[in-house]
Parts: sequence; structure tokens; C-alpha cells
Amino acid sequence: MDHFLTVAWQAARMAGAVIRDNWQRVHDIEYKSAIDLVTATDRACEEAIVAHLAKRYPGHSILAEEATAIVAPGSVYRWIVDPLDGTTNFAHSFPHVAISIALERDKDIVLGLVYDPIHDEGFSAMKGEGALLNDKPIGVSKTGELDKALLATGFPYDHREDPDYYLKYFRSLTRRAQGIRRAGSAALDLCYVAAGRLDGFWELKLKPWDIAAGALIVVEAGGIVTNFSGGPFSIDGEETLASNGLIHGEMISAIEEAEE
Ligand code: IPD
Ligand code: CA
Ligand code: CA
Repeated sequence: MDHFLTVAWQAARMAGAVIRDNWQRVHDIEYKSAIDLVTATDRACEEAIVAHLAKRYPGHSILAEEATAIVAPGSVYRWIVDPLDGTTNFAHSFPHVAISIALERDKDIVLGLVYDPIHDEGFSAMKGEGALLNDKPIGVSKTGELDKALLATGFPYDHREDPDYYLKYFRSLTRRAQGIRRAGSAALDLCYVAAGRLDGFWELKLKPWDIAAGALIVVEAGGIVTNFSGGPFSIDGEETLASNGLIHGEMISAIEEAEE
């Protein structure tokens, strides 16, 4: 299994070099919708990562955000890749972006790697083996009350259409938490929960490539990831709620109140 992580690291470092070379430049931006962007760097990173994984593991399936859906018949393995999480940040030279690579075996996420190339921080986990930040073990915070918690969230690309739908959760949680950050990379938000920099995170409508790696890293760091009612988390679901475990119940209550 270790070779999977080694290969994922190689792919992430290649893409990381592309991001580091380009993040302070003016970007060629294309619009997938009114505010959903893609740049040449997203595509270049995806090409580099997919080429590396496909060369090493030609029998594996690969799903990546921009253009890759390789289905290898009979394979139990599927790589799930966000080549650049935080594209809006990247397009504005706001230095908070990541590459997210996960490996699924029989629908179970067994490896997660999230690499922030600008700060050279790599968060990783293998199922059952704990979580690491640049090879050092990490764990979730011990914050026991929502009142003392620092949370993060994000908004999906349709937030202009019905802002109040998303803001009702923000309103409910901002009245109870110490603070809320909205930094623009769901993969890093999850890793910051894993590293104890944040105590909790919630977001709606994330995609498998945003959350597959980060969710495993949170769990391996001792945290919890569920849907908004505390039920099982799925990378194909609409709701992501992650925390240190200690404030999870209070976050669920705040979400329930928002929905009343
Ligand atoms: C986005 C980021 C952002 C989140 C959005 C995602 P992208 O991914 O993770 O933090 O709020 O919902 O789509 O488009 O930058 O890869
Ligand atoms: Ca993303
Ligand atoms: Ca992306």
C-alpha cells in the first residue's frame, strides 16, 4: 500500500511545481458558469497527475474534476483527483490552494493526500494508520464547546441564485461559534480540522474530488465526518459536516435550528 502514497506524492509534487510557477501570474480564465472558473493551470495539473497515475497503474479507474473519467473494467481501485482546489483563490493570486488525491478500493477511501504547494504542506492518511502533516502525526483539536470553536465553511457555485439558503446555516453557526473562516479550499478546510487549526467545517454540494481525501484525513486524525444530521457521510452526498467530534452534536443542533 505504501507505493500508492509514494506515487500520489510524486503526482502531487509535479502539479505543485506547476501551481508554484503560475500562481502570481495573470491567468487565462474560462468560465464553466457565472462564477465557476477554470484556468490553464487546473488543466495542466490534471494532465500531469492523471498521466503519472495512469502510467503507474494502467488498470485503475481515475476520476478527475476537469476532464478525466477513466473506467477500468473490473478494477477495484479508483483515484479521485482535484487538480487545483481553490481555483478562485488561484485566479486572484490568493495563496491558499491545494491538490487533492484520494484512492478508493471497493468504494472505500483508503488513501488521502492534500498538498498545499505554496506553503509546502502535505496532509496525508492511509486508512487505519493515522494522519500526517509533512510526515509528522496530527490530531484534531480538544475544543469542547462550540462557543470556543473556530469553524470554516464555503459556498457552492450556485450561491448567487439563492444566497439565503446557504446563509441560514452561516447565521445559525455564527451566533454560536467563536469565529468562522471562508478561505476557499474545501480540501484544506478539512485538513485544517484534522490538524486542529479549525474545530469544525460544514458545506453543501461539494463534489467527490473536493472531499474524498480530506474526509479520510479528518477521520484518521481522530475527528468525525457525517452528513448534517449526524448520519453516514458519503462523497456522493450533498452534505459535509466535519469536526473534532467534541462539538459535533452542537453543530448538528445549530444546523437543525437553521432548517426550522
Ligand atoms: C471549490 C473550493 C471551495 C468550495 C467550493 C468548491 P474548486 O473547489 O473547494 O472552497 O467552497 O464549493 O467547488 O472549484 O476551487 O476546485
Ligand atoms: Ca474543488
Ligand atoms: Ca478544482
